[in-house]
Amino acid sequence: LQKLPHMLSRFATVPAARTRVLSSLAAAVLRPGSPVAPPAKPVQIRGRPFLPDGANPRFPEFMASAREEFPKVFSAQGDLSIPEWGGVTRELMDEYLHQYGVILLRGLPLQGSADFGLFMKAVGWRLKDKTAYLRAIQARSMTSTVVNDAVRTASDDHRNYTIEPHNEFHTVGCPRYITLYCETPAEEGGEWPTGDSRAILAQLDPEVVAKFERLGARYTVFYEHKDNAFYNCWQGNVAPTKEACEKYLKALNYEFKWHEDGALSYWQNFPAIRVHPKTGERVWFNQIHAHHETFYKGAHPLFVDKPAEFDRYPVHTTYGDGTPMEREVLDHIREVIWKNCVAVPTQAGDVIVYDNWLAKHGRMGSFGDGPARKVYV
Ligand SMILES: [Fe+2]
Repeated sequence: LQKLPHMLSRFATVPAARTRVLSSLAAAVLRPGSPVAPPAKPVQIRGRPFLPDGANPRFPEFMASAREEFPKVFSAQGDLSIPEWGGVTRELMDEYLHQYGVILLRGLPLQGSADFGLFMKAVGWRLKDKTAYLRAIQARSMTSTVVNDAVRTASDDHRNYTIEPHNEFHTVGCPRYITLYCETPAEEGGEWPTGDSRAILAQLDPEVVAKFERLGARYTVFYEHKDNAFYNCWQGNVAPTKEACEKYLKALNYEFKWHEDGALSYWQNFPAIRVHPKTGERVWFNQIHAHHETFYKGAHPLFVDKPAEFDRYPVHTTYGDGTPMEREVLDHIREVIWKNCVAVPTQAGDVIVYDNWLAKHGRMGSFGDGPARKVYV
């Protein structure tokens, strides 16, 4: 008899979990919104300056416009506090994000990065322990700035540079979700290229997928010592001392090597395909293309003029056995990704939430001398 309430409660939770729906408050204030409109001007991909592998003739000339439900748009309408908006947003994401892959929220009353931080804490993903997020994201390989204990700038890299669509990956602990907030859109460009990973996996050559599934991929990160750095350095992005770096890398199972001039390389293998934790589907969740040296080589403004023999790029990927990826395989992966990306022009106040395992995010380069685009993560 003592066990009976416990046994009954187990049965009671099963149907409730299956039929979970939004609370009446969330359903009332977060309503399906109009699909994302096409950009005012077509978004050039092929031949675009400062885009990784931009001269590739297989790339589409322009990016597709958003589809009816990719990203799915919800419109915020109601008089709620920012923490309350975070609470209803969490409900919405728990219910729908794995279905749509990407959700764009328009109309939230966020006025800058402090509001965005409050909002994200109320959403509550991995931010309950306020240091967990910053700890997990400290060693991301690009350049960004801590704004508050829940928010960073999305990227401080040169505004002309296009950050090709990618999954946030090993350097930040392979997060389940990525949330971006636009405070100030770019004068021209700066769209969010948004990739449908389900379609990408379906269109990739099965032999390419099978080889990566068999071998995995090896991800190598390279940081200069701060005295030699013209981009990032390990003191800034990983830890201030060699001892602290090694402690961090060992805790995360990386192998590493110190170069004679004080630079640091570290590497680890990761699978190319994973099982989605919520839906159980196989997903192309990796960073094989955007962790390849060509992410910088010939594309990034600080690396575009490097001579052919230069080999100190911040990132590189190979097959898991260390053999180089064939050029046509890399081209094929990028081509399929761009063909399954849609352009999401940014509006001030937009919050876009990616299921990081189901969708790819990035940033189109922006142009013009006006105020800089301000986007936070
Ligand atoms: Fe990213």
